Amino acid sequence: MLDKLNNFAQNQPKVLVKTFGCQMNVNDSEYIIGQLEQLGYSRTRDIFKSDLILLNTCCVRENVEQKIYSLISKIKKIKENNPSLILGICGCMAQKEKENIFKRAPYVDLIFSPSQINNLKEIINITKYRNKKYISSKNPTEFILKHTPISRESKVSAWIQIMRGCNNYCSYCVVPYTRGPEQSRGVSEILAEAENLAQENYKEIFLLGQNVNSYGKNLPESVTFSKLLTLLNNINGIERIRFMTSHPKDLNFNLIKVIKNSDKICEHIHLPIQSGSNKILKIMNRGYDINQYKSIIQEIRNKINNISITTDILVGFPGETEEDFQQTLNIFKEIEFDNTYTFIYSNRENTIASLMPNQVPLQVKKERLSRLNNLQKEISIKINKKLEDKILEVLVDKKSLKKISNQLSGRTRTNKTVVFVGEEELIGQLVKVKILKSDTWTLYGELVR
Ligand code: 5AD
Ligand code: SF4
Repeated sequence: MLDKLNNFAQNQPKVLVKTFGCQMNVNDSEYIIGQLEQLGYSRTRDIFKSDLILLNTCCVRENVEQKIYSLISKIKKIKENNPSLILGICGCMAQKEKENIFKRAPYVDLIFSPSQINNLKEIINITKYRNKKYISSKNPTEFILKHTPISRESKVSAWIQIMRGCNNYCSYCVVPYTRGPEQSRGVSEILAEAENLAQENYKEIFLLGQNVNSYGKNLPESVTFSKLLTLLNNINGIERIRFMTSHPKDLNFNLIKVIKNSDKICEHIHLPIQSGSNKILKIMNRGYDINQYKSIIQEIRNKINNISITTDILVGFPGETEEDFQQTLNIFKEIEFDNTYTFIYSNRENTIASLMPNQVPLQVKKERLSRLNNLQKEISIKINKKLEDKILEVLVDKKSLKKISNQLSGRTRTNKTVVFVGEEELIGQLVKVKILKSDTWTLYGELVR
C-alpha cells in the first residue's frame, strides 16, 4: 500500500508556484494551487523537478518586474533540458506585459490575467493537451470565487477577497490598469466563506481589497463596508477580523464606530499616507490633504484605545523637493506610526506620473528612503518599548522561524509579532503572553498560564 502511494506521489505532476507582491497575490496563489491539486498536481519547491512553473507576478515597482524577467530567462535553460516543462505567467505583470513577455520570451507557454485565476483548469488543459500557447486577458467578469478550490497556507488565519480592482488612478500606480475597475463580491458569498472557515476552525479572517472602504458600491444590494463588518462580527468561532487596505479619502467615521463596537475587529488600521506634502498629494491624485489625514488619525485614536496604525509612503515622487520630504519626516514625527512600508517611487510606463517633469535622481531617492527608515525605526522601537511588561492576547499562528526549538510565533490584536516558548499544540489558540523584550518589529515574551 505504502509503495503504491509512493509510486503515485512520484508519478504525480509537480508544480512550483512562485508568488511576488501583495497579499492579494498570495491569496490568488492559494486558489491557483487549490485548482492544480484537483488536476492531480502536487507542490514542489525544486525548480528542476517541476512539470509546471507558474510565476504569479507583480509590477507595482520596476525592480520586481526586472527580477521576474531575469527568472523567466533562467527558466529558459531549464526548459531546454526538459521540453515538456510548462512555464506560465499570471498576476499583474502578465496583464500589463502580455505582448512583451511573448516577444521577449517566446518559450513562455501561457499567460493569464488576475481575473482569470478561477478558470485555471481550462487554461492548463488547453496548454497541456492541445499543445497550444495560451494568452488570456479577459475583462473581469462577475467576481465569484465560491466554486474555486483553494489550498490555504495557514490553518489559523484566512484571507478573504471582498473586492478587487481600483478606480482611484493615483498618478503613480499601475493597479487600476492591471486589476481593472473596482468589483465587490456579494455579501452572501463572503458570509458563506467566513462561516465555512469558522467550521474548519479558522480563528482569524483577513479581508482583502485594494480599497476596502468602497466595498459594495457596485453591488445591486445596498451594503457598505461597515455593514459587512457588522455581519461578519456575528459569526461564531471567528475570533478576529482584520482588513486591508483602507483609503483615507473613503474612510468614513462610521467605520471607526463599528471597529470600536465590534469585539472581533482588531485594533489595527493600515492607512496609506503616501506623502507628507500637500503639493505632492495633489499631484499624486490622492483626494485628501494632510489636515484631513490627521483628523482621521485623531478620530481613530480618540475612539479606539491603543490602536496601532501603519502606513505606506513613497519617497522621491516627481517634483518632491527637500522641503516636501521634510514635511514627510515631520508628519512621521507627529503621527508616530507603529510601522511603515516605505518605497522608492518607481516610474511605471503609461502612468501620469511617468510623464511628469522633475523626476528625482535615484541617489537622492535612496538617501531619502534611508533617512525615513532610520526615523521610523526609532519610532517603532519607542512604541514597542512601551509594551514591555504588559500581558497581551496573542493568536498563535506558527512555529517561529527563529531556529530555537519550542519557539512559537503569533500576533497581537494590534498585529505585532510575538515570539515565545510554548508547545506546538498552542497553534491556533488565543493565549496570554507577558512581553519581556521588544525590538523594532518583534516582541519577545513568556506564556502566561
Ligand atoms: N512606485 C513605488 N511604490 C508604489 N506603490 C504603488 N505604486 C508605486 C510606484 N509606482 C506603493 C504605494 C502603495 C503600495 C501598495 O505600493 O505606496 O500603497
Ligand atoms: Fe494604486 Fe491608488 Fe488604487 Fe492604491 S488606491 S491601488 S495606490 S491607484
